[in-house]
Amino acid sequence: MLARGVAPGKLILLGEHAVVYGHRAIAAAAPLTTAVTLRRRPGPSSLEAGAPSAWPALALLVPPDGVGVTIDSSLPMGCGMGSSAALAVATVRALAQMEGREASFEECFERAFTVERAFHGTPSGVDHAVSAAGGVVAFRKGSPPALTPLSLATPLWITLVDTGPPIASTAQLVAAVRARQAEDTDVAAAIEAIGVCVEEAVCALEAGALARVGGLMRANHQLLQQLGVSTPPLDAACDAMMAAGAWGAKLSGAGGGGVAFGLAPDEAAAHAIGEALRPSVRSVWALRIG
Ligand code: PMV
Repeated sequence: MLARGVAPGKLILLGEHAVVYGHRAIAAAAPLTTAVTLRRRPGPSSLEAGAPSAWPALALLVPPDGVGVTIDSSLPMGCGMGSSAALAVATVRALAQMEGREASFEECFERAFTVERAFHGTPSGVDHAVSAAGGVVAFRKGSPPALTPLSLATPLWITLVDTGPPIASTAQLVAAVRARQAEDTDVAAAIEAIGVCVEEAVCALEAGALARVGGLMRANHQLLQQLGVSTPPLDAACDAMMAAGAWGAKLSGAGGGGVAFGLAPDEAAAHAIGEALRPSVRSVWALRIG
């Protein structure tokens, strides 16, 4: 018997790192997904196809015996797009389907959180919350988290670029910011200022004021630079996206490398910005969000 679960990756539109301190973040499910297929088979459970590095996370969810797992993913791994969260949510969905039922949001959130905690220290939970909920959400951490679906006045056209593997893990980057904000009041103030950007962006997104959203993204990126989590390739990619016509650009996720995105005025611009960046980055996507 086969069972299949699918879950999307995510983009943090604004608010990463500040979300760890209780501010809201705005996150969107990305149209790049991970699918997990399970089949019953004799003997110990094992990975039949997919990246072997995924097995330690899967082993926290899949029973020790009797299951063969196949992973099929269009999500780049380990670059800030929530690949581990999508893997966990897709696996919880497939396991529920194997029992002839559908996994609720709560089940996906709680079970994926065990995996995220095992691999990322003390995550806010934003990655797997948006993977389980879909759409575009404002997220505040907590148990349970506060999740507000946002209704965008117009869809967003995003140019997403991968600048290469991060130089540190999410847990290391979050710990570095924690150390800096305890010592430096400017860093603590930057975290507060990110929280303000997020609240303004919620209103701007719902009003369809996308040029304003772009300006807030740009401000958010500068505040992330003050937290010390950007890198020269991320800064160069953001500058290049602005020069190519984006309304705003920022890193997305923990930083230290990985992905950045630009908010494009329309679909044609999203592709054109991507083409302008292609020679200098690892991968490029033009994505429609919302
Ligand atoms: O693991 P990433 O790159 O998707 O980043 C997660 C976002 C952070 O705010 C940096 C950490 C967290 O737990 O929210």
